[in-house]
Amino acid sequence: MNTYTKDDKFVELISKIPNVAVQGYNRDRTVIYWNKASEEIYGYTYEEAFGKKLEDLIIPDFMKEGVISHIQNWYDKGIAIPTGELPLKHKSGSTVHVFSSHVMLKEDTSEPEMFCVDINLTEQKRQEQLLKEKDKILLHQSKMASMGEMFENIAHQWREPLSMIATTASGIQLQNDFKILSDTYLNNTLNSIIENSQYLSQTINDFRDFIKGEHKKIPFNVYDNIQYSLKLLEGVTNKNVINIIMSKNGQNIKICNYPNELVQVIINIINNTKDAFIKNEITKRCIFIDLEELSREIKISIKDNAKGINKDIINKVFEENFTTKEDKEATGIGLYMSQRLINESMKGNIEVKNSIYTYESVEYTGAEFIIILNKD
Ligand SMILES: Nc1ncnc2c1ncn2[C@@H]1O[C@H](COP(=O)(O)OP(=O)(O)OP(=O)(O)O)[C@@H](O)[C@H]1O
Ligand SMILES: [Mg+2]
Repeated sequence: MNTYTKDDKFVELISKIPNVAVQGYNRDRTVIYWNKASEEIYGYTYEEAFGKKLEDLIIPDFMKEGVISHIQNWYDKGIAIPTGELPLKHKSGSTVHVFSSHVMLKEDTSEPEMFCVDINLTEQKRQEQLLKEKDKILLHQSKMASMGEMFENIAHQWREPLSMIATTASGIQLQNDFKILSDTYLNNTLNSIIENSQYLSQTINDFRDFIKGEHKKIPFNVYDNIQYSLKLLEGVTNKNVINIIMSKNGQNIKICNYPNELVQVIINIINNTKDAFIKNEITKRCIFIDLEELSREIKISIKDNAKGINKDIINKVFEENFTTKEDKEATGIGLYMSQRLINESMKGNIEVKNSIYTYESVEYTGAEFIIILNKD
């Protein structure tokens, strides 16, 4: 037969319930109740905790003052402590993240008691943190992947200025050996060497800025941002003889968003287009970029003439790890990451469709990526 009274049942339930730490404190914050889950979560046994002060057990130093004054306010003025997430302290010193609710019992008596009911969120926080770190690594990998190719092409971008420097320098040496070096020739050639080395150092700076680029929301000119992306891609586009036709519209559009992220997305799209041109053996290669100002948004359209994306896979291209490329380097994260950057960081939208369009009386067929971003 069940011999419990209703109250006994609840007392036993609360004392044994796993993962829900319940502690009771009197007016001077001394522990008067400490259930089994509190022992688990905070590491102190009932015997260790009983009679000790709340702030000497589980409150981290930086919160002590605030917690004491909140509790006093509750006892003195009846201002309840709101429910919420708190980083408390385990006996070992480590942080225990809890979702904490509080209740005052015997409120009308001379000895009210405050009870805290804490649910342990530490594992959840740890998982969240792991996910965040995984995301960070993925983002970094995708940035590096989009860069990798460009580093190869830096060589291409550098070949001409480097050979110019070498030729002019040996010209100076030769003329000097034959004692025919004039001041005018020396000045002109030195100027050309300076200009070329400035160009080399500028390309390095551009790449470095992009790689180190911060994740920061700032106002920026979208047209200039696209031009900057194209500059980073110059090695790729020159080497693969890709003609970029950017319309002159929207040169003054400014938005407040993450410029570095937009650069990364454009790089991913154009790197893909380059691969499609090669795969589909397109000889006359064009990319059209249009920028348009809508009433509250801006629209960036990037079209190519690489024949388009097969309709069986077009819905999959933004999926993580989706790739049709056989080389080991391709991981299928380029567009997945681009979509996440646009949707989650930039709060915009990115879509792809196949387009047929005419430019200067010639018809082009290819993929069109459309990015929509809010103006503010
Ligand atoms: N402009 C395009 N024309 C044709 N197919 C495209 C185009 N852009 C993307 N795709 C297709 O979308 C797929 C996914 O692209 P995504 O950038 O996500 O991965 P990937 O380029 O294959 O690999 P990664 O970017 O990781 O090197 C590509 O494998 C390709 O089949
Ligand atoms: Mg790609």
